[in-house]
Amino acid sequence: MSSAATVSNSSGNNSDQTTGKYPIDLFRGWPNPALLPVDSLARSAATVFASSSIYEPGLQYGPDEGYGPLRAHIASWLTSFYRADTEGSNLPTETAAGAITAERICITGGASQNLACLLQVFTDAAYTRNIWMVAPTYYLACRIFHDAGFMERLRGVPEDEEGIDLEFLERGLREAEERAAKEGNIRPVYTLPRPWSNIYKHVIYLTPTFANPSMKVVSLRRREGLVRLARRFNALIIADDVYDFLQWPSDPNAPNIKEAASIPRIVDIDGYLDGGPIDEYGNAVSNGSFSKLIGPGMRVGWAEGTKAFAYGLSQAGSSRSGGAPSQLSSTFVDQLLPSGILQQHIKQELVPAYRARYNLLISAIKEHLLPLGFKLPAGNQPISGGFFIWLDLPSTLTGDLLAQRAWEVEKLRIGSGTLFQVQGDCSEHHRTFEHSIRLCFAYERFGLLYEGVARLASVARSMLGSE
Ligand SMILES: Cc1ncc(COP(=O)(O)O)c(C=O)c1O
Repeated sequence: MSSAATVSNSSGNNSDQTTGKYPIDLFRGWPNPALLPVDSLARSAATVFASSSIYEPGLQYGPDEGYGPLRAHIASWLTSFYRADTEGSNLPTETAAGAITAERICITGGASQNLACLLQVFTDAAYTRNIWMVAPTYYLACRIFHDAGFMERLRGVPEDEEGIDLEFLERGLREAEERAAKEGNIRPVYTLPRPWSNIYKHVIYLTPTFANPSMKVVSLRRREGLVRLARRFNALIIADDVYDFLQWPSDPNAPNIKEAASIPRIVDIDGYLDGGPIDEYGNAVSNGSFSKLIGPGMRVGWAEGTKAFAYGLSQAGSSRSGGAPSQLSSTFVDQLLPSGILQQHIKQELVPAYRARYNLLISAIKEHLLPLGFKLPAGNQPISGGFFIWLDLPSTLTGDLLAQRAWEVEKLRIGSGTLFQVQGDCSEHHRTFEHSIRLCFAYERFGLLYEGVARLASVARSMLGSE
């Protein structure tokens, strides 16, 4: 994560000398430090270092696919969450069929690191036409695509209440294919297909559940439509499924959601739709991460795809040379899964805490910002989750200026909408989101969230001339 644009205030009340105000950070998309399972991790590390059968492999180069016990334990944890056949679950019956196997899992160094590996193995900088990103997007992903050679070939795809706009995407895919045919772009140039990989013509990147920054959830029928499109156009869907476990009802008075996914992942849909994947690699990968659940510094995540896809990913040159990333961290994380410690932590600590933070921020927004003409585009979703709230501004305000004034006058950090545009989309459809902002309810101390919104309202009121 970039730190240059952020200021931390969570360790103290240091006031700014010119304004006399202590900083409040509603920008930084990090977990609150008090919510990380520090004691459990300390016990995990002690267990690891007390047993040579764990720390010896932990301190060595690991297998390409990652630490074996963790792969197996992630597979069974994901099975219980994504394939739960619980009463009241909205999952289609096909999703409940069969357990997720360890062969489908490849350990990663987190979702960001793995995005780079996915591009190295499964794309070619010439043959792969475009990267299609749901916009607004997780902005730090853009540079990972730039680094892989797609600098000016990123394309934003709009979203509405149901998520990604499939008609827009289909039009774009069709036009890209026509262009490729004209240009004679018919085979990979730099990354030739190897026995363990497939080179896709397109990449579609999104966070289908509780998107960063919009918090939107893509509907089941859009997910299915997306898989069908990807199959038709030889596209790889990369789904950052990093917030799925942090979910709660939007209604503050409703009981908690059962510990099961509310909607199948895109990789699950590719597994069953119309008879299952069209070839051994399929068209979807789930990019998972422990960053929001245990701590980003662990640098451990996982990818799930077909067995051939997971193996292909493990054959990225850097994993062949060094073994899967984060081998030692993997042994710590592994201690938390079969014991149920992580599952308990999510249920008893994270979901209640983030739910309370979300509810507090929403009620402050309703009290202070909606009366000024701010809007909550994801306001009608029955389920909320993740870390962020996206707001549309009254048309006379811009996010850039509001963020600048909020910092100068109130020492409040917020994310201007322009940060979340697709950087490198040079098409006529490029959108800049200048009349939007993102607020993060996860990082700042609970006691400052309400005041942050009140300060924002004060800045907005003076800019709107109503004070
Ligand atoms: C959508 C999305 N993907 C990926 C990441 C980064 O994940 P990781 O820490 O696993 O690299 C974030 C973090 O904010 C995110 O919001």
